[in-house]
Amino acid sequence: MTIFHTPTEWRALRPSGTLGFVPTMGALHDGHLALVKTALAQCEHAAVSIYVNPTQFNNPEDFAKYPSTFEDDCRLLEEVGCGFVFAPTYETLYPDSYRYRVTETETSTVLEGAHRPGHFDGVLTVVLKLFNCLQADAAFFGEKDYQQLLLVKEMAEALHHPTKVIACPTVREPDGIAMSSRNRRLNPAQRALATQWAQTLANTTLSCDAATQDLTELGFTVDYIAERWGRRLGAVHTPPLDNGPVVRLIDNIAL
Ligand code: PAJ
Repeated sequence: MTIFHTPTEWRALRPSGTLGFVPTMGALHDGHLALVKTALAQCEHAAVSIYVNPTQFNNPEDFAKYPSTFEDDCRLLEEVGCGFVFAPTYETLYPDSYRYRVTETETSTVLEGAHRPGHFDGVLTVVLKLFNCLQADAAFFGEKDYQQLLLVKEMAEALHHPTKVIACPTVREPDGIAMSSRNRRLNPAQRALATQWAQTLANTTLSCDAATQDLTELGFTVDYIAERWGRRLGAVHTPPLDNGPVVRLIDNIAL
């Protein structure tokens, strides 16, 4: 597996044949690896980017605490047969210091966008930069971040980007909770409670209001539970049980 840091290096390395690209922020788990496996099933080569993108964190503490496990990540990627890892720096990816941005004005203003100002500008901008650096045939995104997936898909179409955006299903733990790099921050008491978050969101016999009430009674702070795009989507903050950190969890299910 080859690790590279700049688009110039990539131009010299790029193998012939189809390329599937999986953008990530590292701290990889089986959800990410499923995207890589799908990329390798559909394309001859796979490249993964590992970059914790500062422009998409509206909360500086969330950025500072984002887990970083680069060596473990590379070992996992090598095991699934990934050929290339792109690990750029801020200076490489943002020669403009983020003066140029991609802003979407509708889909990005609701749900996650309403609760995380600027978040999707950062996501769309970095994804477009990564797409331009890699020049892949297809890019693979998880339904776990459903609004992000929709926005990236729409952006690629709107800007006539040649990279095809492909959706992959959410990978879950046996108790139903969606795999997430942020789950690593939960202490055992919070992790146990998070099971009820996943189960409450998935219980469509409850209305969104009833689910919000149940989660609030369990101690979660609910950002939103809402139905859009044929899905039920939600975001909550865990209570700081046993002095654990407040962790923001998002998830969605098909209706
Ligand atoms: P990150 O949270 O690392 O996620 C990278 C990709 O993995 C995203 O497409 C996400 O939806 C997918 N993913 C995460 N957990 C998953 C799960 N349990 N099942 C299936 N797919 C899952 O999303 C980002 O990074 C960033 O916003 C990024 C697109 C890299 C831009 O910085």
